[in-house]
Amino acid sequence: MKYSKITGLGHHVPERIVTNDELSKMMDTNNEWIIERTGIEERRWINPETDTVANMAAKASRMALDRAGVKAEEIDFIVFATITSDYYFPGSGVLLQRELGLESIPAMDIKNACSGFIYALSTADQFIKSGMYKKVLVIGAEIQSTALDLTTRGRGTAVIFGDGAGAAVLEPSDEQGILSTHLHSDGRFAEELYVKDPGSSRPHEERQPEQILDTSGFKVYMNGNLVFKHAVVRFMEVINEALEANNAKKEEIDLLVPHQANLRISNYIQQKMELPDSKVYNNIMRYGNTTAASIPIAMSEAFAEGKINKGDLICLAAFGSGFTWASALIRW
Ligand SMILES: CC(C)(COP(=O)(O)OP(=O)(O)OC[C@H]1O[C@@H](n2cnc3c(N)ncnc32)[C@H](O)[C@@H]1OP(=O)(O)O)[C@@H](O)C(=O)NCCC(=O)NCCS
Repeated sequence: MKYSKITGLGHHVPERIVTNDELSKMMDTNNEWIIERTGIEERRWINPETDTVANMAAKASRMALDRAGVKAEEIDFIVFATITSDYYFPGSGVLLQRELGLESIPAMDIKNACSGFIYALSTADQFIKSGMYKKVLVIGAEIQSTALDLTTRGRGTAVIFGDGAGAAVLEPSDEQGILSTHLHSDGRFAEELYVKDPGSSRPHEERQPEQILDTSGFKVYMNGNLVFKHAVVRFMEVINEALEANNAKKEEIDLLVPHQANLRISNYIQQKMELPDSKVYNNIMRYGNTTAASIPIAMSEAFAEGKINKGDLICLAAFGSGFTWASALIRW
């Protein structure tokens, strides 16, 4: 066994559709601005009465397991990428383990924002290649909506983010599968896209909820322009790194699935790589940026639409908070 292979993909998004016009009633923004700057037409928001990160992940997992023909009881490891775990701790991996009715198998959370799914995929890949685990569930799931600042002050981020979950089943394979993964970070930019609270490095009195007078630290802060400028550079770098590591040319890519951060970023990469529309998958129009969930949701939809087929060369790439960025090259 030389490779790990994705044998099943699944996703789940909440029922509630929130249009740009709906957001325009909450804050000073408008449909034209949002579409022109981000490409987003609508996004999904959870129902806090019924939806959790873990139960959305469970629904995505069941679809992935079904498509893989694997029973939940056969899973021996869960790697769960999220920055919006249901609790501050423990992570959502253990909650998913419980939702699936599994006992004692390990569950690990990965907190690498938009790059989280590729980090999780890479982790699962290493554990399978080492022989330690055989059937791994890799998850990206987020609930961003309940943390958004829905006033005009928060419009720079509130219009972008959405909720959802995606899942992949990974198994060992003698045939090619995940060819390589490439992970990076640069902590100098940690505060350019972050949620400060509830941070641990605060004086005792500032960490107690009843003492917190300024709650702005609980909302997403993003230096959008700076993030954009770094994203376009890092996306290209890390895609080229994956191609070079495998002696592959950009023309050989059958489908590029970029993290759905902003349609302008995806279009920029597509243009730079001279790829036709048919070779770049985007669904940000319908879901916004779902952080760690965006790549597995996009892959699951692309698979269902017949855009991922046996033998295809699939490239995944992401950039996000940290800053972190990553890519993966997969022979399907
Ligand atoms: C956030 C982002 C869409 C903003 O687009 P932009 O073209 O950079 O716009 P700016 O932030 O420069 O703002 C331009 C103007 O629009 C205004 N604006 C910001 N959000 C707005 C909104 N939702 N509706 C209407 N106007 C808005 C700003 O206040 C600003 O007004 P001003 O010129 O009067 O000051 C863009 O920077 C971006 O997508 N960045 C990358 C984000 C990303 O990918 N994040 C996730 C990383 S994984």
